Amino acid sequence: MVCGHALTIQRVLTPRYLRAYDGLVSSQGFRHRHLVGISALAPEEITQILDLGDHYLELDAQPVKKLAELRGRTIINLFFESSTRTRTSFEIAAKRLGADAVNITGSASSTAKGETLIDTVRNVEAMRPDAIVVRHAFGGAAAMIAPHVGGAIINAGDGQHEHPTQALLDAATIRRHKGLKTAGSPRGGSIAGLEVAIVGDLAHSRVARSNILCLSKLGANVRACAPWTLVPRGLEDIGGEVTRAHTRITPHLDEALEGADVVMMLRVQNERTAGEAPRFPNAREFSRMYGLSVRTLERAKPDAIVMHPGPINRGVELAPEVADGARSVILEQVSWGVAIRMAVLRAWIMKSFEVP
Ligand code: NCD
Repeated sequence: MVCGHALTIQRVLTPRYLRAYDGLVSSQGFRHRHLVGISALAPEEITQILDLGDHYLELDAQPVKKLAELRGRTIINLFFESSTRTRTSFEIAAKRLGADAVNITGSASSTAKGETLIDTVRNVEAMRPDAIVVRHAFGGAAAMIAPHVGGAIINAGDGQHEHPTQALLDAATIRRHKGLKTAGSPRGGSIAGLEVAIVGDLAHSRVARSNILCLSKLGANVRACAPWTLVPRGLEDIGGEVTRAHTRITPHLDEALEGADVVMMLRVQNERTAGEAPRFPNAREFSRMYGLSVRTLERAKPDAIVMHPGPINRGVELAPEVADGARSVILEQVSWGVAIRMAVLRAWIMKSFEVP
């Protein structure tokens, strides 16, 4: 089952459509004007962002965390959907790089008075920001506004489409815990061959889509698990051959968890299904069949890590003992979020993936 909205996104955001907004090649070989989705990134570029994130994570241990690499630059966070982690993380990332960060939230913006998204963006653009970080409930919002700005558009989550920086910070967290150091990937190691279970509301999750793309491109294998009513049609095809080769869909939690190295749980996004026929009988039943508990986690590898992008619905997709348990890396994901967003802002503004 897939709702009409999700199908429209898949039709509109073909790679060819997205490529129209790329194509800027800097002297350092940087070829992206915007970061709309993981779909436009090559595996080597993802690895370069993760390496740059590693570099910035080292700052986390320093008492003074501020750099001057983006001094004099302006970054506008334009958020039309609620957010705690992502907005704060982008704001801290911008400030740690020395940039000026300005926050605009949907309810406080003129769209609440009837202004169109493009008009709002054109007005924000008239103040000449170097980057606009945008979150919007419309899947396709980031690509839609990209042609109207001179700086970079960074997608911080557009409807059910993509959430690229979440997938990058998830890959960074996985790489840190499970990365296999090889001659070809000395810094953070390789995550190729890892088994990653992604469990929960796949139908409405931009996090699932971006993670399936990102993990597949890095060579990890994804077991995507949900009741069929929460699996969008063609999910394994979103990245073509690479996701088809690395993604398996199953409605059985046991099968998804068996021997997994990483278990990533997703929230049921009730706010996106208001007024629709229910996709499962009730939260208690969903929790019994798809929730991660101390008992169900036993199926995964003994050293498997547990992840969640937040916000958690405690007791629904994740038992509190697991969320707060020794194998949970959920708060580490938040720490990595700042480092990865520093990497993304620096790369997309300075047009270079190089570690400074
Ligand atoms: C996610 C989102 O907004 O897509 N959260 C996040 O960015 N940390 C997932 C969610 O809302 O469930």
